[in-house]
Amino acid sequence: MLVGIEGFEDAGVYRLGPETALVQTLDFFTPVVDDPYYFGQIAAANAFSDIYAMGATPLTAMNIVCFSPKLFDMKILKEIIRGGADKIREAGAVLLGGHSVDDQEIKYGLSVTGIAHPDRILRNEGAMLGDLLILTKPLGTGILNTAMKGDMLGEDAVREAVEVMATLNNRAARAMSLVRVHAATDVTGFGLAGHLSEMLKETIGVRLFPEKVPYFKEAVKMSQSGFVPGGLYRNRDFYGGRVEGTASPFFMDILFDPQTSGGLLIALDAADLGRFKEASEGNGASFWVIGEFVEEPKGKIVI
Ligand code: CO
Ligand code: CO
Repeated sequence: MLVGIEGFEDAGVYRLGPETALVQTLDFFTPVVDDPYYFGQIAAANAFSDIYAMGATPLTAMNIVCFSPKLFDMKILKEIIRGGADKIREAGAVLLGGHSVDDQEIKYGLSVTGIAHPDRILRNEGAMLGDLLILTKPLGTGILNTAMKGDMLGEDAVREAVEVMATLNNRAARAMSLVRVHAATDVTGFGLAGHLSEMLKETIGVRLFPEKVPYFKEAVKMSQSGFVPGGLYRNRDFYGGRVEGTASPFFMDILFDPQTSGGLLIALDAADLGRFKEASEGNGASFWVIGEFVEEPKGKIVI
């Protein structure tokens, strides 16, 4: 076993031989959007992110489904599965099977298996002094999903958020494989501050560039109107002590906003920024340089 359950890593890693390690993850959740086809895409993209965050290449996937045919039309399930299958294909992986249980609350996701070279595994810790902090998707999907549930989000804003959540992190992962990266994870339920804290442990600090942190414009208005997910407050209670300094009230919200199928968070060797930019632009991957790792204060996110 190379990576196990300690350390809140994105996936488990098991050495098969000197050149190959098996990387395995499982992720599923309740619908975040009304459209079942897009929900399937989003849940699948989210599951793949944990493989990409480990520096691995996905090979196979299995569906995990909770669905009650008595309560819901089977067409809904077909659309969810179709969305997932499209993302599996896009990721270059194959669907091997899956399992379903009768459940009143719909849930869907994937177990994904990938491979990586044992020496190229990326953990969430390992960021080095002077590394740049890179994020590959804008923040705010927790706030927007809450507004969507209240039917308060305009059509264009819904489409934009859905597209970003359904986007695979495969292009960013490919760019990452061409440069020196010391650590990586993906931003999901614990928000930027939570997942960043797992990268820092008590060994290094990070200085954020608030004006460089990307977010959905619509999230500003929605958070002001009170569409704030409960998870945001829980994340703030849990990780608030990690944050030093302050910025606008919206920025202090977005730091803790739980993300659905969020971007990769990457500690990139600063000397490789040019090459990373070239590789990202070459394959159409977005990224933002949102901070830099600093020696002190250890374990803190400084704004
Ligand atoms: Co993860
Ligand atoms: Co996960």
